[in-house]
Amino acid sequence: MITKIEIVQDDITTLAVDAIVNAANNTLLGGGGVDGAIHKAAGPKLLQECAGLGGCNTGDAKLTKGYGLPARYVIHTVGPVWKDGQHGEPALLESAYRRCFEVAQQHGLKSIAFPAISAGVYGYPMRQAAVIALRAALTATKNNPGLERIIFVQFSEGAQQVYQETAAKLGIL
Ligand code: AR6
Repeated sequence: MITKIEIVQDDITTLAVDAIVNAANNTLLGGGGVDGAIHKAAGPKLLQECAGLGGCNTGDAKLTKGYGLPARYVIHTVGPVWKDGQHGEPALLESAYRRCFEVAQQHGLKSIAFPAISAGVYGYPMRQAAVIALRAALTATKNNPGLERIIFVQFSEGAQQVYQETAAKLGIL
């Protein structure tokens, strides 16, 4: 099975995929940005399940059900807060993507949708974040033969364009 990598402009909470990824924080107890939108759309049972997970380290990922979302599951990950790029940020962001793909494989998931982890409130430069995201996806297409679709979802047209350009440079699309 060939894994398809897609880049779309949309609200990630509306996607009917096996799992959407949440750009969460270490508490997993909700927040703003895409985290707030996911909790709002999923309903209070998501917060209840998250409260039992004991938080999540930066660069790690944990799975919950999707509850009121069209997605079956949510994979919660925590990207790094951008300082200057000299504090391990690239390795931590790469780890966040890798762990999401590992969790997806452990649960036999076929489709997964990602927001631009760390590229909002956490301040990671979008262009650099897109390179890490797309390279991680390329690796996953080799390591996870059961995966059929990897979808990168951007809220804004500008971010979507950055992903398209980056994918073209990496020879993905
Ligand atoms: N669908 C798709 N993308 C979205 C959506 C959406 N509904 N909403 C926002 N984005 P951010 P971070 C984009 O700030 O930088 C939270 O408070 C957004 O435009 O959500 O990892 C957490 O609790 C941006 O491009 O995540 C943490 O404390 C991208 O998603 C902190 O923010 C990520 O922006 C995590 O910050």
